[in-house]
Amino acid sequence: MTECTFDYRGCNVFVAGGTSGINLGIARGFARAGASVAVLSRSREKVDSAVADLQQQGGRVLGYTADVRDGERLQEVFAAAHRELGSFDVLVSGAAGNFPTAANSMSSNAFKAVMDIDLLGTFNVLRYSYAYLRKPGACVINISAPQAFVPMEMQAHVCAAKAGVDMLTRTTALEWGPVGIRVNSLVPGPIAGTEGMKRLAPPGPAGAAMIADSVPLKRQGTTEDLAQAALFIASRAAGYINGVILPVDGGWSLGGAGEIGRSLAALAGQGVR
Ligand code: NAP
Ligand code: COA
Repeated sequence: MTECTFDYRGCNVFVAGGTSGINLGIARGFARAGASVAVLSRSREKVDSAVADLQQQGGRVLGYTADVRDGERLQEVFAAAHRELGSFDVLVSGAAGNFPTAANSMSSNAFKAVMDIDLLGTFNVLRYSYAYLRKPGACVINISAPQAFVPMEMQAHVCAAKAGVDMLTRTTALEWGPVGIRVNSLVPGPIAGTEGMKRLAPPGPAGAAMIADSVPLKRQGTTEDLAQAALFIASRAAGYINGVILPVDGGWSLGGAGEIGRSLAALAGQGVR
């Protein structure tokens, strides 16, 4: 396959929830391509570790502690990052929470926790960064999930929240297109070694093999797969792509993704009816 290289020198990239897993991989991709990068998440330890990791790429890196459920704190963080860096060329919103539970035994607060982190959190990130996005020219990337359009057992909260995230993508694409801001969702498939997969995949090598086999490309994804997709969607090469929900999943959402819900329900021995 031909290697693609992207040049983000002189660009400012903010990754909300960018201190581990897929989002950190995306932040790394932009830092490697020459961008100045800011990340935020709740844990001071994770923020410090991500900043140290990203600094190895050689560029400017900022880190902030914040909970995406707290709009006031986000306003402070985005204003501070803007003072340091200037307008944001790329904004990634990827903070999320997940745990498998059947709808008929989930507490209201459990449902609300995921709705608040994934959906309200994405709204807050977009709403309170808007003033600092480059106009025209900025690209917003929301990190969705196959649960947004593939119903899965034990995932009612995540399915509802991520479907909402994708509608936020489409409505903000409509509202912000006229000022030159593109908004798209990237939809990761099963990404090896991530917190999400630790929580959802059946355990052990057999579980990993089952997941890989359920993907038409016959492998789990990598954080680098998502980094490459993010570098593409934010680039001039994707300059006329707006309001799109783009699976980066080897074709998993065409059919195989639903299997994970059935195996979760079976593993938990939990009745879903
Ligand atoms: P992860 O490593 O747990 O990443 C989640 C990030 O969000 C962390 O940096 C976490 O840091 C931060 N975060 C969580 N809650 C937050 C909050 N309330 N406020 C601010 N930051 C918060 O998970 P991942 O598996 O890489 O998933 C990353 C994204 O990809 C998520 O949007 C997920 O839905 C999506 N996705 C993942 C997969 C997969 O295979 N893993 C598949 C499809 C979609 P703190 O704990 O420090 O806050
Ligand atoms: N099964 C059922 N309910 C659960 C649960 C589980 N495994 N984990 C948490 N809950 C419930 C809690 O019991 C609580 O409900 P209750 O008040 O009725 O008891 C509710 O969810 C909120 O839990 P809390 O621990 O207060 O939430 P939090 O805001 O501190 O943390 C989580 C949010 C639960 C999503 C936590 O796992 C998290 O921070 N995750 C981030 C990382 C992640 O999930 N990464 C994968 C992304 S795909």
